[in-house]
Amino acid sequence: MRIEVQRVLQRFRRLPVVLAPMAGVSTPRLVAAICNEGATGIHAGGFRSVMQLAQDIDEIRSLLGEEHQHAFGVNLMVPPEGENGGVDDAYSKLELAQQIERARVSVLPFYQRAQGASVVVPTPKVTPSCYKEQVDLCLDKGVPVVTFVFGRVKPSEIKRLQDGGCVVMGTATSVEEAILLRQDGVDAIFAQGAEAGGHRGSFLRGIHLVGTMSLVPQIVDAVYPLPVIAAGGIADGRGVTAARALGASASAIGTAFLTSNESEAQPLHKREILRKDRSETDTIVTDVFTGKAARGFCNDFVSQYRPHNSNQQFDRITQGDMPVDITRIRGEQSNVAPYPIQQALTNPLKQFCIAHNDPTLISMWCGQSFRLATDNKVSRIIEEIKDKLRL
Ligand SMILES: Cc1cc2nc3c(=O)[nH]c(=O)nc-3n(C[C@H](O)[C@H](O)[C@H](O)COP(=O)(O)O)c2cc1C
Repeated sequence: MRIEVQRVLQRFRRLPVVLAPMAGVSTPRLVAAICNEGATGIHAGGFRSVMQLAQDIDEIRSLLGEEHQHAFGVNLMVPPEGENGGVDDAYSKLELAQQIERARVSVLPFYQRAQGASVVVPTPKVTPSCYKEQVDLCLDKGVPVVTFVFGRVKPSEIKRLQDGGCVVMGTATSVEEAILLRQDGVDAIFAQGAEAGGHRGSFLRGIHLVGTMSLVPQIVDAVYPLPVIAAGGIADGRGVTAARALGASASAIGTAFLTSNESEAQPLHKREILRKDRSETDTIVTDVFTGKAARGFCNDFVSQYRPHNSNQQFDRITQGDMPVDITRIRGEQSNVAPYPIQQALTNPLKQFCIAHNDPTLISMWCGQSFRLATDNKVSRIIEEIKDKLRL
């Protein structure tokens, strides 16, 4: 086993806790706070330009104690293959144009609610992915761990990173995806269960919503001896203990660190998660904000976006306490534009909501265990986990 992988595993043995990557939430300060407590911090490279990410990496390094310099990683969002982020490949130009138009019509009432009747929905501006440059940056900067989400990376690219000294990890939401990642040559796998907050990391067709309790041991068995990091609904020492019992080498915690004292997440986001009047059934997996399935709070935007009289066109299903609100039928009938166009369409609403402290039209990503989240300092959250693990 390569020395870099051994080093990561050794750290997991001492403290099997990972800061899950969270685009739009993770900051160098939070990553460093986690790493300096002995855990492993993965910074989200998603939606960061190459220059911003370079600055983040330098800042993380400057905040890390000497013995924790190898404790951090960077998470990259793999863009769909093909021209124009794969969007043109999946849809004919006409279909795509019609779909975007329907999405523009659907967001209009929300824009009007936010900004007044005379508002015009702007043409969505999609920022081209800088994923390739981010990979080069991670290599240039010697980032110790590089993790991927939303896709597979060519085996040659994985090898290039490994030869450059990086430990490479992929994200799977099913056993099938995990096996493909192993075949591609990754060093470890994030097993993301259905409880997880934020975007589903799925890259094979379909909605994969297998709970962490079921997914982790099945992936552990399927990819043995590759290390597996459990993610989804783990928020304290009980969850980390359970994930270990299921065979995970570590637990990735997102939501419970999002609200921590050192997190610089939007105060509105933190406040909504920490509200005492919420029920654990308040989250939903939906694609209406970005065009990609993600878990967050169900608010007005989610519940009012789809036409109510169109059950056949929009498949809104409820599986027990696991509500799902996903466009199953693409093309002509859908009023959700494909990712990342839908995201570009809803982004201005986000700016409005943040400015007005309004949680009703904005994505509030969070996992199903959000009621366990606190605003405690990272050191206290980790202390509790260590106590439970008797470390
Ligand atoms: C606000 C937010 C943003 C996220 N962004 C990313 C991301 O950029 N990359 C990624 O691989 N996963 C992302 N995730 C998923 C997390 O890495 C992780 O799977 C999830 O938070 C674990 O579930 P938990 O929130 O219940 O702890 C995000 C999750 C949240 C809550």
